Amino acid sequence: AMIGKGEHRHFMLKEIFEQPQVVGDTLNTMLNPASRTITLMDLPFDLGSVNRVTIVACGTSYYAGLVAKYWIERLAKVAVEVDIASEFRYRQPVVAKGDLAIFISQSGETADTLAALRWCLDRGMNTIALVNVAESTIARTAHAALLTQAGPEIGVASTKAFTCQLTVLACVAIALGRANGRLPATEEARLSQALAEVPACISEILRADDGIRRVAEDIAQARDVLYLGRGTGYPIALEGALKLKEISYIHAEGYASGELKHGPIALIDDHVPVIVVCPSDELYDKTASNVQEVIARGARVVFLSDKEGQARLVNKPLAAFTLPSVDPFVAPILYAVPVQLLAYHVAVAKGTDVDQPRNLAKSVTVE
Ligand code: G6P
Repeated sequence: AMIGKGEHRHFMLKEIFEQPQVVGDTLNTMLNPASRTITLMDLPFDLGSVNRVTIVACGTSYYAGLVAKYWIERLAKVAVEVDIASEFRYRQPVVAKGDLAIFISQSGETADTLAALRWCLDRGMNTIALVNVAESTIARTAHAALLTQAGPEIGVASTKAFTCQLTVLACVAIALGRANGRLPATEEARLSQALAEVPACISEILRADDGIRRVAEDIAQARDVLYLGRGTGYPIALEGALKLKEISYIHAEGYASGELKHGPIALIDDHVPVIVVCPSDELYDKTASNVQEVIARGARVVFLSDKEGQARLVNKPLAAFTLPSVDPFVAPILYAVPVQLLAYHVAVAKGTDVDQPRNLAKSVTVE
């Protein structure tokens, strides 16, 4: 069927606004809201005996894998390695037969990711594909496929596929923890509840889109933009920077907040906006103190946090964007949304081709 943009000016915006629905659809395949439990499809191997996980992907899907590392290590206490497919396949990684490897790909056709999957199969690893296209090559090649329910994604810059990937990976982390006995049932219930509330929280963020649009006009003037985050906020900072580069052609870098002092702080002046991903979690104070420091150096900060986090920031930022207060577990799914919107509105302000950015392809099927 023909897919239209509906009331939206671009596919990307339509896809950003579909997120409450498609994240909800994805959750519905795994989450039982009555029992507040997670069930993955039947896998041809035992999740409870997994003692190492390797995650391989490219682009935005790779950043979803980085978030999953924090989740899986915390909830299931299983060591996780995350690699870019084009690096993994050529670096002679050390893997063991029976280890679990997860391949994340919206299209299910990315050449490097597929080659990495085949390499792992040859070495007797257990493999799971996390894809958005059920009949794709990667889905058909792995032992099992977990599906995101994002629907067709047309905009070259991935948005809804990413939040759906995160949703599945959050469930994988819970399922692993339950299977190996590291995650108590009470925790599973609490985290499942937090996940169940995500679609409504995304809707709330989308309703505040105007606030992002206003600051975007300012960011559109910048030559360089820095994104900062800690913990699961760090991969979201990387993803935010990628989105901005891809569609607005502004140079952007994502950095772990704690690395600020080890280089990027040298770039900061009042011409370099700094976008900060900073939910109220156990790392809030550390990131907030990095932010105070850059504000003191004249940086124009866009501060993404919840009500409590905004209130606790002493030096006032250029712009504050307030997100719903949620369990920190689900924060990366929510904070992905304002960085998508920011990239989108900056690109529109600059007049670039949002859905078909120069030089980029939706799916990279050659090396
Ligand atoms: C291309 C797309 C990105 C995507 C990446 C990985 O670079 O432009 O949006 O994240 O490929 O694609 P995949 O389909 O494997 O997730």
